[in-house]
Amino acid sequence: MCGIVAYVGARDAVGIIISGLHRLEYRGYDSAGIALCQEANGPLLVVKTPGKVLDLEKSLRDALLPYAGKKFTLGIGHTRWATHGEPNRENSHPHPSRNGNFAVVHNGIIENYGELKKRLIARGYSFASQTDTEVIAHLIEECYEGDFRGAVAAALEQLEGTYGIAVISRLHPDTIIAARQGSPIAIGIRDDETIIASDVSAIVTHTKQVIYLGDGDIVTATRENVDIASLKNVPVSHEMTHIDWDISQIEKGGYEHFMLKEIHEQPDSLANTLRGRLVPSEGSTRLGGMRMDLPDMAGLSRVAIAACGTSYYAGVVGKYLFEDFAGIPADVQQAAEYRDRNPIILPDSCMVAVSQSGETADTLAAVVEAKRKGIPVLGICNVVGSTIARETGRGVYLHAGPEIGVASTKAFTSQVAVLAMMAIAFGRARRLSVAEGRSMVDEMARIPDLARRVLEQEDAIRKLAHKYAGAHNFFYIGRGYMFPAAMEGALKLKEISYIHAEGYHAAELKHGPLALLEESVPVVAAVPDVPGKIKTLGNMQECKARKSPVIAIATENDSSVTAHCTDVIRIPACPEFLAAIPVVIAEQLFAYHIAKARGCPIDQPRNLAKSVTVE
Ligand code: G6P
Repeated sequence: MCGIVAYVGARDAVGIIISGLHRLEYRGYDSAGIALCQEANGPLLVVKTPGKVLDLEKSLRDALLPYAGKKFTLGIGHTRWATHGEPNRENSHPHPSRNGNFAVVHNGIIENYGELKKRLIARGYSFASQTDTEVIAHLIEECYEGDFRGAVAAALEQLEGTYGIAVISRLHPDTIIAARQGSPIAIGIRDDETIIASDVSAIVTHTKQVIYLGDGDIVTATRENVDIASLKNVPVSHEMTHIDWDISQIEKGGYEHFMLKEIHEQPDSLANTLRGRLVPSEGSTRLGGMRMDLPDMAGLSRVAIAACGTSYYAGVVGKYLFEDFAGIPADVQQAAEYRDRNPIILPDSCMVAVSQSGETADTLAAVVEAKRKGIPVLGICNVVGSTIARETGRGVYLHAGPEIGVASTKAFTSQVAVLAMMAIAFGRARRLSVAEGRSMVDEMARIPDLARRVLEQEDAIRKLAHKYAGAHNFFYIGRGYMFPAAMEGALKLKEISYIHAEGYHAAELKHGPLALLEESVPVVAAVPDVPGKIKTLGNMQECKARKSPVIAIATENDSSVTAHCTDVIRIPACPEFLAAIPVVIAEQLFAYHIAKARGCPIDQPRNLAKSVTVE
């Protein structure tokens, strides 16, 4: 989940790589480095530092002084999220080979690195870092006999695990070799230059013409040419993808944090998710990318949902939607369970893999497993062309626009919207009448407005956030559709404010957590005016009786909640099947303002990464 940028061309590589690394910092930000090459046989200049890309820039200023007036036209850069070895200078990438001829940046995990390291040490290599990556640099050196691409391919053939890599050599100052196995690599093509990165957000300011490498591909890139082949050197061709979003969409646009910008984008991101997909006349939805016709949908006996993190909680909402509206039993599992266990995959079932990034390693593994067992797998992804989107080959894109803040916000609400549209499509093929479908579709058309109206509550939510920012523990409770909403609210708070927060089914409080409640432990209750409300009001009363302050997230004008809570956040009225959307938006704002009041680094919470491409 690190960020990689590589450049070859006529312009100054330093500025292009550094600005690309800034854009990729959300993938990892505990150390950073760059390797640059000026001319054949000159040394590679390698500069690395613990900390952020800004720290790297400072170190680079001094390191570049002797080169004043000269231009580097080839280079690779990296921003790291540590897996092997602590985040210090030695473990930062790029890793040079023993003789300094090659430098490597890597994203992923080499599983057999211990064994390879032992063999390399026996052959006289010494290691400067604790990383798995360093073996790649030394293996390339060992395999090199004048053919740069061949040496990298021969080194990669010895690896087990996952990698996205970029390599440069002082012996080939016009070439980048990059390759992928399980970690994304995109190649930006432009006249007279090539920019390679682990994420297109580092490329789009330079070109919108991008090729995505497939697993097992290796690319030889110069400023004029891009040759893609397999490790065995069989040519591979991939279509060029045109990126249709702009860099302004991933800049902060006047907001202090990406997270706040992304929370505020929800009326638009949700409108984009719904655009062209609601069909009121048929009381249904049009999701062509699912590539399922009515008999396919009618014949399904089960839906298996696999996802991680916030996407998992959207998946729990999805389970309820599929069961309530389509009458299809659905199970939702943390995607890692498909690696760790052997969940039953029934014939006539399908998998729905939910992933904002489309790169999450555990979700991808679940997809591969379900495909192996022969069932159709649908992806719900945000990032177009991402690995899960390509691996599934069918599904529904969120079209929510790039999400940069590590804590997922707009992706969640769009995921719920897509799952609701899928449930309507399945439902209409099975048991929903046209009138029922039409009323759901009409309600869905109101979603962007629901989001807008929650955002209007921001001042009131900020005040409450300040009131509770000093708490050390929180509980979030809800039942039915409000249960996953409570879990997601607690996740948002802990991710960005570092306050311990637990999401609980409201009915489960009395089976343990009540023992923890006291004056200093606030409880956030998701209690809009939907079925189950009366019971949750009772649970809130139980909390108040233990002196916990209770913050209700309740429907506007619903006076029945006031006696049961200490404070209240108001959301607009909506049907139960959509209520998770406004409730979670209110929770996002609450978590954001608490984290801000506590001075936390909201877009880059400690120890977390946006895209988790390791197991
Ligand atoms: C990371 C992110 C979360 C995200 C999860 C799943 O943990 O920090 O915000 O929900 O990965 O990511 P995905 O891209 O698969 O939705």
